[in-house]
Amino acid sequence: MKIKIVKARSKDAGCIEELDRFGNFQPRAIEKYLSPVDQTKIGKYFIFLAKVGGRPIGKVEMVVGMRSEGTIAYIRRLVVHPDYRRKGIAVLLMKRAMAQARRDKVRSIELHALEDEIPAKKLYEKLGFEVKHKEVHYRKK
Ligand SMILES: CC(C)(COP(=O)(O)OP(=O)(O)OC[C@H]1O[C@@H](n2cnc3c(N)ncnc32)[C@H](O)[C@@H]1OP(=O)(O)O)[C@@H](O)C(=O)NCCC(=O)NCCS
Repeated sequence: MKIKIVKARSKDAGCIEELDRFGNFQPRAIEKYLSPVDQTKIGKYFIFLAKVGGRPIGKVEMVVGMRSEGTIAYIRRLVVHPDYRRKGIAVLLMKRAMAQARRDKVRSIELHALEDEIPAKKLYEKLGFEVKHKEVHYRKK
């Protein structure tokens, strides 16, 4: 199986939304994240797609921006289509994002995972990420 990792383009919007559904991520207006100029006010935004035979089957997103402690990359919305999991695709996507972060001279790469997201947690630990702190999420209706 030949996997290509590419930067997403405007024509990929529909596939990105479909992949987001497999990750149970909140719907959003995707267009602003795909526009080539200053996509967000918070920094540079990247979406990398994994493609097999031209079909997007996974993606990762990353924002690179300045904070008081320096340039930080934040990785989010990583997902691989259920038919293609456990084939190393998430590792390829993460390595592509981390290479971009190095190019952008980031001080650290941050991400969040929920306690029960075992595949994601194992993946991040395999790639050398360490738990910085644990959060408790409160809600009142
Ligand atoms: C998390 C996710 C992206 C992993 O994608 P993937 O392409 O299957 O992952 P890989 O094949 O690259 O796996 C790399 C490593 O991650 C860990 N891993 C991945 N899936 C796992 C699972 N189901 N159980 C335990 N460990 C797992 C393993 O350490 C694995 O290495 P190994 O196969 O040598 O044991 C995928 O399960 C997914 O899309 N989940 C739903 C969305 C999600 O949870 N996103 C992350 C939260 S933001």
